[in-house]
Amino acid sequence: EHTVADIRPGIDITDTSLYVDGIPHALFARLRAESPVWWNPQAPGVGGFDDSGFWVVSTNELVRQVSRDGATFSSWENTATTRYADHCPREHIDAGRAILLNMDAPEHTALRAIVSRGFTPRAIATLRAVLAARARGIVERALASGAGNFVEQVATELPLQAIADIIGVPQAERRRIFDWSTTMTGRDDPEVTGDPLEAIGQVFAYAMGLAAERRDHPADDIVTTLVRAQDDSGALTDAEFGSFLVLLMVAGSETTRDALAHGLLAFQDNPAQWELYRRERPTTTVDEIVRWATPVMSFQRTATRDVELGGQAVRRGDRVVMLYASANFDAAAFTDPQTFDIARSPNPHVGFGGTGPHFCLGHNLARMEVELIFDALADLVPDITVTGPVVRAPSGWLHGLKSVPAEYPACPV
Ligand code: HEM
Repeated sequence: EHTVADIRPGIDITDTSLYVDGIPHALFARLRAESPVWWNPQAPGVGGFDDSGFWVVSTNELVRQVSRDGATFSSWENTATTRYADHCPREHIDAGRAILLNMDAPEHTALRAIVSRGFTPRAIATLRAVLAARARGIVERALASGAGNFVEQVATELPLQAIADIIGVPQAERRRIFDWSTTMTGRDDPEVTGDPLEAIGQVFAYAMGLAAERRDHPADDIVTTLVRAQDDSGALTDAEFGSFLVLLMVAGSETTRDALAHGLLAFQDNPAQWELYRRERPTTTVDEIVRWATPVMSFQRTATRDVELGGQAVRRGDRVVMLYASANFDAAAFTDPQTFDIARSPNPHVGFGGTGPHFCLGHNLARMEVELIFDALADLVPDITVTGPVVRAPSGWLHGLKSVPAEYPACPV
């Protein structure tokens, strides 16, 4: 049993009421100072799990340590797939096992080596011109409307289009794909009515069709690359391929959307930083936006052995949550962490995960998208006014924004 001294009574980071005003910085700072690793008791059933709790790792240094050490801190154990194995159909288990995010070495290493081919800096750079034109078009349409919800008008569209571009989804089929993506991720959103499992099935079926098509008609895209790997070495199973498309759609859309929306809010609150961006476009900007936004606030691992962590005795089988939303504001790693500083360098944030086997595969793509949208805004809009009120989607996992009402100044000529 865990000793009472390790426990923080009354604080449960899965309690969504903590996040009604965004990241609870003061609380996290206090906990970081008092105990960098603490045991978070959890009410049964909260957060989708029926366990009694987990360790929370809150400093930048310790989050990095956990991220780096995939052998000690497993991504596979304790996933929903393993926990509900007895209640799930075989094909769901196979698909769950094939999700890159949930895998451990050596399977993770092998699959990551294959799928990384579609995400090299060179592969991403070939998308730049297309995505720049899209970003500009999206911003121009928002400007023409005069006012609206920035999340819907600007931040949602580009991430979905970028994933469709990278996969090579024909234009005519994109609406369908986007609807599935919304359904898959909209479990907690009352406005989203579709069945997420059904949508996942549809993406799987679509993925199989796409793979068959590219086998017959190879193209210069990631699907062809993956299908070739599948055919040459037998390394990529159908389940892995289908799961990978599902993962891209889930991992790459809401995260980037939230980075863009929080970026806008940060510039609104810090006009001097917006001036600096318009004048100099520092290359350090995107990392500061991702740190500030921390779209993914936490991620879980499970200890594969007994290990000492931040003075606590973590035992084999214990769940360990890396609190990125705390690590990104740790004064031991950042000067003035509560200052939004687009020239910040170095910027050892863990917004894309700590440097380790699961470091965000899409980080080059996400960086490019954020840069292109703020470039288009800086080129085309002298000032944006966030008129508010902002509507958040409080969650202990994603730092979500549903609505950021904004006004764009009318064209003066
Ligand atoms: C992994 C954040 C955009 C694809 C991750 C992880 C984080 C993250 C924190 C690590 C999870 C872990 O430690 O287990 C973000 C943020 C984004 C973003 C903040 C936007 C600002 C994207 C995009 C894509 C993408 C655009 C692809 C289209 C992935 C994939 C993984 C991943 C496939 C799993 C990698 C693995 O397990 O080896 N992301 N992500 N992400 N991300 Fe992203």
